[in-house]
Amino acid sequence: MTDKISNLLAEIEKTKIENKAQLEELRIKWLSKKGEISVLFDDFKIVPNELKKEVGQRLNELKIKATEKINSVKEVFEQQESTNAASSLDLTLPGIPLNQIGSKHPLSIVKNQIIEIFSKIGFTVSDGREIENDWHNFSALNTPENHPARDMQDTFYINLNPEMVLRTQTSSVQVHIMESQKPPIRTISPGRVYRNEAISARAHCQFHQVEGLYIDEQVSFADLKQTLLYFAKEMFGVETEIRLRPSYFPFTEPSAEMDISCTICKGKGCNVCKYTGWVEILGCGMVDPQVLINCGIDPEKYKGFAFGMGIERITMLKYRIKDLRLFFENDVRFLKQFTSA
Ligand code: DAH
Repeated sequence: MTDKISNLLAEIEKTKIENKAQLEELRIKWLSKKGEISVLFDDFKIVPNELKKEVGQRLNELKIKATEKINSVKEVFEQQESTNAASSLDLTLPGIPLNQIGSKHPLSIVKNQIIEIFSKIGFTVSDGREIENDWHNFSALNTPENHPARDMQDTFYINLNPEMVLRTQTSSVQVHIMESQKPPIRTISPGRVYRNEAISARAHCQFHQVEGLYIDEQVSFADLKQTLLYFAKEMFGVETEIRLRPSYFPFTEPSAEMDISCTICKGKGCNVCKYTGWVEILGCGMVDPQVLINCGIDPEKYKGFAFGMGIERITMLKYRIKDLRLFFENDVRFLKQFTSA
């Protein structure tokens, strides 16, 4: 037994360990559960009592030596590896070029286009606020107390007394503008709006609208129609046609909804236009005289038109996007497809 210990000690001392594989091999050979040292510990049971003390000491010494050898060589190898990694790092190499510089969100691209189109015909841009009181979001816009749009299901109320809401429409900006400016007024107001809707491919609890407002002494429905025709042609191409269908909004009289000829099938019929050849893109009308009065403008002297459209809807038509949720998920694979100057 003592011979075996001495031999193994000598082996441990003289063995040169060249690489990591060899290190692992020796660790298993010497120190694993079935390794040579463990076998010696098993044999220790049969050592006569009078020798136990001496043999035991030598056995422990052997185990310590083996462990120290393995650990110290391991440390050397690890150090070598980290210096190798550092020296193979060439700090003078040029950077890897990014193949994708940042791009604008499709909603921003379309919003900017809308602003550009209307600014060419003299519309300014007005900002509103996303947290509104009841007056600006509803009451001033002729939306009576019991109107369904006021239902808690549609509107996010953030305070009940006084009633404060996340605006449900950018029409609220009209009220601020008419209260604070004198006609002539010719402005558009893009911005985010909120509705308490279940999120799906066609609806979201947040989306974007652009409101348009024109107030002057001689504004007629013909002006409204011509302005919107100009917009449709600029946005969707010169061949685009529009049609106005009578509709209802509390703050306009008369009111209409505007369709454009389907940009996808060119009127032949497809699933986007539900085989009608037309797609609805906005609501509009002549500002109700009561709304002018609510905002301190004399309806005997001034008239006006207003319109409101969803930016998501225009963007979906333009880029043939089928799911509204894509706009808010910020998936880079979606976003990087859009480029703009
Ligand atoms: N605010 C309306 C909505 O959210 C859109 C709208 C319709 C705005 C007609 C207008 C308008 O200014 O005249 O559905």
